[in-house]
Amino acid sequence: MNIVAIYGSPRRGGNSDVMLDVFLSSVQPTDTIIKIIPSELSFSQCRGCRVCEKTGVCVFDDEIKTVSNHLLQADRVIISAPIFFYGFPSALKALIDRSQVLWSRKYLLKEGMKLKKGFLLAVGATQGKKLFDGVILSSRFFFDGFHCKYQGEVVFRGFDKKAEIKNCLACLEEIQKAAQNFFYPENTIK
Ligand SMILES: Cc1cc2nc3c(=O)[nH]c(=O)nc-3n(C[C@H](O)[C@H](O)[C@H](O)COP(=O)(O)O)c2cc1C
Repeated sequence: MNIVAIYGSPRRGGNSDVMLDVFLSSVQPTDTIIKIIPSELSFSQCRGCRVCEKTGVCVFDDEIKTVSNHLLQADRVIISAPIFFYGFPSALKALIDRSQVLWSRKYLLKEGMKLKKGFLLAVGATQGKKLFDGVILSSRFFFDGFHCKYQGEVVFRGFDKKAEIKNCLACLEEIQKAAQNFFYPENTIK
């Protein structure tokens, strides 16, 4: 199984990194994990020129090209991110915008793509009722652009200090259960 794991925070070793590492800890050694850290990549922002709608190719030739290839070849894609102003941190959002080329290839140029499955992990500091609405929608539509079916999310409110989610054993257990179900549903006891 090809797994693409997107680390959405610019803070290394923070809550969303911990969550993704725990999520990935159930992966079997025979599976391949490709880690993508948007804040450490060098790429241009989508300029909305629409060239990709006609050509299926982005005008920018940068690190997003490799990311796009990984996404197309994946069987499972996971995003883990903190909430920044009720949305994704800017580098992750910029990466998502650049996936418009994949959306164009799928919907306008009618390219066939293999089916994948996607999952979201997210964490925020406050208790806002709608805290995760934005990132859930962004994830659904990002995934759909490369034929990746949204499978669900695990989200936590009230975590702010670096890596403090490690102290919430119930959270870590919930993440492990969700991962088992996402990667190996056939082994999950219902
Ligand atoms: C620029 C910025 C914006 C933030 N905006 C929100 C917000 O709108 N709502 C919220 O609950 N937390 C917000 N937070 C808090 C983070 O979501 C929280 O600290 C999270 O645990 C950080 O995860 P990380 O350690 O993976 O980076 C914000 C933090 C930063 C740095």
